[in-house]
Amino acid sequence: MSKQAETRYPIHELLASRWSPRAFADRTVAPETLGALFEAARWAASCFNEQPWRFIVATREQPNEFERLLGCLVEPNQAWAKAAPVLVLGVVKKTFAHNGKPNAHARHDLGLATGGLTVQASALELYVHAMAGILPEEARSRYQIPEDYDVVTAFAIGYLGDPDSLPGAASQQERAPRERRTLATQVFADTWDAPANFAG
Ligand SMILES: Cc1cc2nc3c(=O)[nH]c(=O)nc-3n(C[C@H](O)[C@H](O)[C@H](O)COP(=O)(O)O)c2cc1C
Repeated sequence: MSKQAETRYPIHELLASRWSPRAFADRTVAPETLGALFEAARWAASCFNEQPWRFIVATREQPNEFERLLGCLVEPNQAWAKAAPVLVLGVVKKTFAHNGKPNAHARHDLGLATGGLTVQASALELYVHAMAGILPEEARSRYQIPEDYDVVTAFAIGYLGDPDSLPGAASQQERAPRERRTLATQVFADTWDAPANFAG
């Protein structure tokens, strides 16, 4: 199933073809492939080159470890994410290594690293579905995550599955068109809320 972005300007196919599925194929992701995804994340830009992101990965090939990570998600996310071959927690270091001060951009940089990983995933015909619906303190306790780190997101990775494998309304939702705000409401110039000339 394709949910290609409908764009006003042409964008790269790797970006246009990306979307967030809940149905994943029953197919493992090879370790070298996972390596390539996290290598892509590793080369993201970051404030002071702090690289504040940390990832915890679990695959369904190791059921106990997979359950440990699955239990860090809220129930509605567990319902579909349990069928993904790979689950990941996104964690940030809250302070800078060079001076110990709070890193206000750590979450930004985790997002950027995850974005790079997501583009690499598209190149490998994989899909990534991010989740804010997590249980951060459960994750902290299950993985003994130190106080200087925050668990921010989780994401599922896998090959595209059959929407009909999802229960009831979820299979219809999986087919729903993707929606976006217009460029004019997102990109301004000269003054607040005034669309840039290419965006209006
Ligand atoms: C930071 C973040 C948190 C998200 N949290 C959840 C979540 O907890 N559960 C879920 O099903 N989808 C979650 N999503 C997926 C979004 O709902 C999805 O990206 C959005 O609807 C746009 O759809 P698209 O990615 O298919 O274009 C999250 C996405 C992001 C980036």
